[in-house]
Amino acid sequence: MTFTHEFLHSETVAPLLAALHKECFAPAWNEKTFSDLLALPTTTTQLLCRDVTPIGFCLYQITHDEAEILTLGILPETRGSSCGALLLERGQEYLSNRNVRRLLLEVSEKNIPARRLYEKVGFSEIARRKGYYRDETGRVDALIFEMTLHAR
Ligand SMILES: CC(C)(COP(=O)(O)OP(=O)(O)OC[C@H]1O[C@@H](n2cnc3c(N)ncnc32)[C@H](O)[C@@H]1OP(=O)(O)O)[C@@H](O)C(=O)NCCC(=O)NCCS
Repeated sequence: MTFTHEFLHSETVAPLLAALHKECFAPAWNEKTFSDLLALPTTTTQLLCRDVTPIGFCLYQITHDEAEILTLGILPETRGSSCGALLLERGQEYLSNRNVRRLLLEVSEKNIPARRLYEKVGFSEIARRKGYYRDETGRVDALIFEMTLHAR
């Protein structure tokens, strides 16, 4: 079994990203949302493939020496086998080689798997947005995580 990463600046992956996102989120982002985001010069898509099959994705917005993760996911059937950590570690390497020094993301305080993953790969919580998300139980806080990337 081989894992490969691809980093793309193309709107052509919008249908694939929408299909992967649907497996990971409800409600999911649609193809138009992805093509609008991918049309921006600042967005980069990372695809993680096992052999030739895409199993994970991450969408970055890169501005100068700072980047933000807009969304990321690993297909349900491949979770819990370090694919999320692999995706982020390769993403960090890609970004630091492009002189990005600060990586940010936002996560629901209720999303324990994602929070653990971010802590595992070196992110720290730096802020909280009260009631930023809404779910079936009401308002949920968003946590902002940050990581400093060093030149390699
Ligand atoms: C969050 C997500 C990407 C994790 O992917 P994954 O491939 O399962 O993550 P990994 O196997 O690399 O796990 C890394 C660490 O995260 C933590 N973790 C993963 N799944 C977990 C779970 N269900 N419960 C608690 N911690 C968990 C563990 O600490 C794990 O480290 P360990 O294996 O050394 O114990 C995946 O669950 C997912 O796609 N979720 C839906 C989409 C989503 O929530 N994206 C993030 C939005 S901000």
